[in-house]
Amino acid sequence: MCGIIGYIGSRPATPVLIGGLKRLEYRGYDSAGIALAERTGLSTFRSVGKVSRLVDKLKAELSEKRHEEATTGIAHTRWATHGAPTEANAHPHFDKSRKICIVHNGIIENYRSIRERLQAKGHKFDSDTDTEALSRLIGESYNGDIRKAVIQALRQVEGAYGIAVLCADEPNKMIVARMGSPLVVGMGDDECLVASDAAALVAHTQRVIYLDDGDVAVITPHSVDIRNLDDEPIERNVAELGLDVSAVEKGGYEHYMLKEIFEQPESVRNALRGRIDLAEGNAVLAGLSASPAELAEIGRIILVGCGTSLHAGMVGEFAFEDVAGISTEVQQAAEFRYRNPIVDRHDMVIAISQSGETADTLAAIRKAKEKGTKVFGLVNVVGSAIARETGRGVFIHAGPEISVASTKAFTGQVSVLLLMALKLGRGRRLSQEHGMELAAEINRLPELIEFVLKQNDAIAKVAERMSKSEHAFFLGRGPMHPVALEGALKLKEISYVHAEGYHAAEMKHGPIALLTPGTPVIVLANHSPVLEKVWGNAEECKARGARIIAVVTEGHAHTDLTDDTIILPKCSPLVATIPAAVALQLLSYHVARLRGCSIDQPRNLAKSVTVE
Ligand code: AGP
Repeated sequence: MCGIIGYIGSRPATPVLIGGLKRLEYRGYDSAGIALAERTGLSTFRSVGKVSRLVDKLKAELSEKRHEEATTGIAHTRWATHGAPTEANAHPHFDKSRKICIVHNGIIENYRSIRERLQAKGHKFDSDTDTEALSRLIGESYNGDIRKAVIQALRQVEGAYGIAVLCADEPNKMIVARMGSPLVVGMGDDECLVASDAAALVAHTQRVIYLDDGDVAVITPHSVDIRNLDDEPIERNVAELGLDVSAVEKGGYEHYMLKEIFEQPESVRNALRGRIDLAEGNAVLAGLSASPAELAEIGRIILVGCGTSLHAGMVGEFAFEDVAGISTEVQQAAEFRYRNPIVDRHDMVIAISQSGETADTLAAIRKAKEKGTKVFGLVNVVGSAIARETGRGVFIHAGPEISVASTKAFTGQVSVLLLMALKLGRGRRLSQEHGMELAAEINRLPELIEFVLKQNDAIAKVAERMSKSEHAFFLGRGPMHPVALEGALKLKEISYVHAEGYHAAEMKHGPIALLTPGTPVIVLANHSPVLEKVWGNAEECKARGARIIAVVTEGHAHTDLTDDTIILPKCSPLVATIPAAVALQLLSYHVARLRGCSIDQPRNLAKSVTVE
């Protein structure tokens, strides 16, 4: 959604804020803005477009002297929810007196009634945003104590917010607050920072406090005083970030996405580290903290998530049913939260999320908890709302995923789902022998991924031959069906090609009508019991002029049918989903590169969808 960064300390704030915005730009990049506490009051600078446009504006309008003197500021990069991406709608937004300004991530759901109430009192709004309703409400509540004013205003709003607030009459402090949108406070030497996520803090400090919903914090260069919405003091632990700057740098790659694709042997190795017991043919998952009896009584597993995480869950469904023999279903988180799910204490709900902040997934967990089910998280970001809300689960340890298109999170999620299936299976019907076979294969995943990464140049050539097409189909069966969906999502979101993922058997039930000569059809034709059926589906497409790009297991190419081939290493169909996904990540990356697209920050998208 949006990115927030705040700084209060002894250094010039502007370079810290701009550096932070650049780290957060992947969260949203329609427009950007900054507010500085100066001797003359609060000054704001805002621009449409990427952060670089704001930098140009600051160079033109902020004198060197002012640049040096301002040591407190807040800044924001926006993914528009209310109001078009214009300068007037860019944050920060002022109150009526222009002595208070705020930056906000989230949605104030009752902003219309607040706006109407304030307009009736003579307020003339400058923007179409929900945020301005909040900034003006804070101003209305202000009687010389900005913390109290913020608390009083927040008690009147409904919805999600992560905010940072400055007040010209109290320039030596910053107020931050969160409800449903992430905020992390960083504590340095003679300075404090706040940001929407740790990527913006890692260059300045390792000491952080993850704020929780309902927290309101007063930050000075030397203190963080946290209150609740009743203005009562709250204690929060200081955590070690455990990240270094290289984790959020491009490391010589042209795009974060390519870096993160090539990080996958290591990121999957991190996901598996210490979690495979080869001798016993089992998985060691401390986060799956449940007694054997509790695990044995699990009647059904429900996997909830959105986007790529939903696709990972769909692979997980095959893993839990085929390996563990547990009835499993996958539900889109927004559906689960709004239907009346038939779940009970014998069910296990696993919420899958890279960011750990996706609003629908978070709400789905809360719905599951209301129903008394066991909930677990499968999350990448430590300290995230979902990690805290579930209280137990497994981190995938993929490291920061900066590119909007999720890659290493997907392979990390599927890797851990395979481990979870192995553990649950060994607690049920899976023999040690079969467990050892699967454990050994999972353990080979880094090299299976390397096998595909070595074909990067060849895959780039395949991409060249399809990069002019405006349409594409991805087909798969069994656990490769969700991989087909994921491959289509990757191509859609970074190259803007209209790509459809389909079950291979489904094409003849309608979608095949869309085929025209030369339409690329990417077929996941790995070695499996249904391979001949997949080839049959490919033949049906070929007969209508499609270009067949086949992803095959080494030694099983079908060159008289296929126009292009990408080779997978020999492994079981379930485990093959991961190298296959990597192949499709590279394919979509190169198509997008050849089409000159903004790969890391595709139009209209944001990295973490913290609104419904
Ligand atoms: C994936 O490429 C997309 N950027 C998007 O679908 C993403 O997977 C989805 O928004 C879920 O995010 P989460 O994993 O952080 O919950």
